[in-house]
Amino acid sequence: MTTKPSTFPADFIFGTATASYQVEGGVHEGGRGPSIWDTFCATPDKVVGGDNGDVACDHFHRWEEDVDMMAEMGLQAYRFSIAWPRVQPGGTGEFNEEGIAFYRNLIARLKSKGITPLITLYHWDLPQELQDEGGWVNRDIVDRFTAYAVRMMEEFGGDVDMWATFNEPWVASFIGYGAGAHAPGHTDSAEALTAAHHLNLSHARAYRAMKHIQPDAQIGYVNNCHTPRPWDPSNPKDVAASAHIDALANTMFHQPFIQGGYPEVLRPNTAHITDWSFVHNGDEEEMKGAVDWFGVNYYASHLVRHNPHKGKATSEVATLADGHKAGAGTAWPGDEEIEFMPPLGQLTAMGWNVDPSALTAHLLKIHRETGKPIYVTENGSAWDDVVDDDGRVRDVNRISYFHGHLGAVLDAIHEGADVRGYMAWSLMDNFEWAQGYAKRFGIVRVDYDTLERRWKDSAYWYTEVLRRRAVVPVEEELAPTPPRTF
Ligand code: NOJ
Repeated sequence: MTTKPSTFPADFIFGTATASYQVEGGVHEGGRGPSIWDTFCATPDKVVGGDNGDVACDHFHRWEEDVDMMAEMGLQAYRFSIAWPRVQPGGTGEFNEEGIAFYRNLIARLKSKGITPLITLYHWDLPQELQDEGGWVNRDIVDRFTAYAVRMMEEFGGDVDMWATFNEPWVASFIGYGAGAHAPGHTDSAEALTAAHHLNLSHARAYRAMKHIQPDAQIGYVNNCHTPRPWDPSNPKDVAASAHIDALANTMFHQPFIQGGYPEVLRPNTAHITDWSFVHNGDEEEMKGAVDWFGVNYYASHLVRHNPHKGKATSEVATLADGHKAGAGTAWPGDEEIEFMPPLGQLTAMGWNVDPSALTAHLLKIHRETGKPIYVTENGSAWDDVVDDDGRVRDVNRISYFHGHLGAVLDAIHEGADVRGYMAWSLMDNFEWAQGYAKRFGIVRVDYDTLERRWKDSAYWYTEVLRRRAVVPVEEELAPTPPRTF
C-alpha cells in the first residue's frame, strides 16, 4: 500500500464553472434569440419567485472584470457554456456574428491570462424555435445540433482544445420532458426516453464531425451522477431498484459510447412506456467510440428501495432526495415501485446531503466502466450565506464541503481513477434554474440589486488550494477584512 498523496498531480487542472443562461443576462441584446428557459421563466409558477435570466449576473457586460477576477484567483481553467440562441438565434440557418464575437473575446481574454477555456456547447438553453419543432424529441435535432457544433469548432477550434458537447443530458431529458420541473416542462416518460437517446446520438454525431475539423480536440460528455445505493443491500428488490436508477441516471449516458448499446435492464423495465423504436438501425454503431473523456458533476448521494405501496407522499420525498422540485411527472421512467429515501447526513440549502465518499466511489466506477480520462466538471454546494457586518461572508460550510470533496478526488486518484481536473461550481452565485436566485452556489457572492461581486471566504480558501495544490485545512484564516469587492 502506498500512502495517499497530499498534493494533486502536476498536470491536474483546477478551475470553476458557470453556464450561459445562469450568468450572462443580456437576453435581448447582441442579436440573441429566445431560448426555452426564457419561455419557461415567463410561465407562471415554474420558477421560484418568478425569477428569470434577463439580467442574471450581467456577465454579458462584466465578462472582462470576471475574467480578471479568475486570474487573480489563479484559476487554470474556466468551464463556460455557449448560448446556442446567442450564436444561432433560431437554432438553424443564419449564425449571429455579434454573438460569436462575444465568445471570441471571452476566449481571447481567458487565454491572455493563462486560463484554459473549456467550452460546453449545450447547457440547456435550447433556441425556442427548435422546441417549437419538438425540441429533443424530434430526431431532426441531431443534425441541427451537429451543424451548430461544427460551426463552433470552425470558429474556436484553433484556440480551444477542451470541449464538452452536453451538460447533464439526464437533466435535459428526464427533468425537462419527464418530471416537468425544467424547460420545456413536459411530463411524458416516453418523450423523456426519446430525448435522452437523441441527446446521446447528437453527442456522437457532433463528436465525429468536430473531430474531422480538429482531430486533436478533446471532446467529452458531462453527466450529473446519481450514486444510488440500495437501502437494504441484502434485499434483491432494493438492489434491483438501485440498479434501475443507476441505469437511467448513469450507465445510459456512457455505455453507448464505450461498449455500445443501452443497459439491458432498461428495455424490460420501461416496456410499458415505450418500445424504444426511437433507436434506429446504425445508431448504436454511431455512438460507440465517440468520446474522449467524461465529465462528472457531483453533488450528493442517494438511497433507494423497492416499495410496491409507494404513494403520493413518498414521491414527494423522492423529489426532495434527488434534489428536483416535484413536477406532475417523474424523472425516473419505470419507477412505479421505486422510492428515494430521505438523504442521510448534513443537508445543504438544496436539501442535498454531504457525502464525499460517494464521489470517490463514483469516480472509481466511471473509471472501471469507461476507462476514459475524467474531469470533475462541477462540484459545490448552496448554503444560506450571510454578509457579516464587516463585509465578510464566512461560508465555512462551503469550505468544509470543498475540503471533503477535494479529499475524495485525491482518494480516487490514489485508487487508480484517471481524474485530471476539478471545476468548482460555481465561480459566482447565479440563476439556479427552477430555484431562481434563492440558492447560492458561488465562491463569490453576487448582490442582485447592485450586481457587485464580493469574494466569500471560500474564494480565498480555494485560491490557496490552487497555490499549494493541496487540500488546505478548513480552519486556516485566509480572507482579509473587508474582502475584495468590485
Ligand atoms: C448542475 C447543473 O449543471 C448546474 O447548472 C446547476 O446550477 C448545478 N447542478 C447545481 O444545481
